[in-house]
Amino acid sequence: MSNPFRYQGPVDPTYLIDRRSELDGLQRAAANRVAIRLAAPRRFGKTSVLDAHAATMREAGHRAVRVDFSQVGSLADAAARVTSAFSALPADPRRAVGRWATRLGVSVAGISVSPAPRPVQADEARHALLELLDLPRTLYEADAGLTVVCLDEFQDLLVADDALDGLVRSVIQHHGDAAAYVYAGSQPSLMRSLFADRERPFYGQARPLELGGLPADEAGHDIEALMVDAGIDPGPAVDEVVALGAGHPQRTMLLAHHLFELLHADQRGDDPAREALDRALDETQDVHQGVWDGSSRLERLVLLALAEGRAPTGDRLAAEHRVARSSLHDALNRIADDGQHVERTPRAGPRLVDPLLGAWLLRRPR
Ligand SMILES: Nc1ncnc2c1ncn2[C@@H]1O[C@H](COP(=O)(O)OP(=O)(O)OP(=O)(O)O)[C@@H](O)[C@H]1O
Ligand SMILES: [Mg+2]
Repeated sequence: MSNPFRYQGPVDPTYLIDRRSELDGLQRAAANRVAIRLAAPRRFGKTSVLDAHAATMREAGHRAVRVDFSQVGSLADAAARVTSAFSALPADPRRAVGRWATRLGVSVAGISVSPAPRPVQADEARHALLELLDLPRTLYEADAGLTVVCLDEFQDLLVADDALDGLVRSVIQHHGDAAAYVYAGSQPSLMRSLFADRERPFYGQARPLELGGLPADEAGHDIEALMVDAGIDPGPAVDEVVALGAGHPQRTMLLAHHLFELLHADQRGDDPAREALDRALDETQDVHQGVWDGSSRLERLVLLALAEGRAPTGDRLAAEHRVARSSLHDALNRIADDGQHVERTPRAGPRLVDPLLGAWLLRRPR
């Protein structure tokens, strides 16, 4: 019996916990041709949601693709990503995908070429992007059908070329009824600057959609059901790992994965949830060490305070470490604006995005 809890890469829509309201929102927006921006921290399930959305739209008879721009390095690379994603579309009237696949050295169904026959210049790559991104309009002119285009890790386009958002906008602004766009990104601060900075082409061009944590009751219910399906009676350990995961989708799955391994091997022990946490921390300690090493002294104080459940900018912490409260405030604002490790919640104030970072911080020898 293989472990049903995947914690790397997007999950199949059938294993998706919750996300119903987000998927409904995406569908309604597509029907109205309203563009959506979906920003969430790393590993919160953006790609999984995009894939589920695309699958639903295809089932409803529309065309849908997801373009993965993660760590795209150059204009040619961006064009290649669009080529390979758009190759999943039905035959395009102008055969742009096939032509550009050959030229850019992208292997797509039916065409296997790599690397590119000669180096691709920026101008040519720009031309490729303009032509390829316009494909939804060409298809619409042929059959009046909708194409849903999900641009994953959209902010990475700017790393390849600071003006790429302008180029993309120049094509897709003419798409009207032909296409519905979703822009997803895992760097909240970059996504904000792309869509909320008046100077940028996408300013005000997409409605934000929040992808928050997983609700504990649904996560617990679904995880337990999968355990029971595998003939395991997990007892209270499921609720315990769900609590340890604190709504973080990937961390919850990582903990559930290790819990499954333990219970499946009949190594329940006294406290299987605790043992699953130990294993998850072993597996992720490099990441936490990296966060720690990359933080300033003040940022470390803030992170530790959040892990301990203390006020990160309070008088007591400031006095204890002989620092000004304003300096703690600045440090907190810096990491919360960045959005990678600390998120601002409307009710509970700032909190650590990754519950395992919190657990790791508490275990650090002082
Ligand atoms: N709704 C969900 N139900 C169950 N597991 C989920 C869900 N969302 C995310 N996950 C877990 O998180 C992992 C990462 O999901 P996914 O790749 O979709 O996230 P992402 O935000 O696109 O990540 P990245 O920032 O690395 O691109 C999955 O392997 C799965 O374990
Ligand atoms: Mg992703």
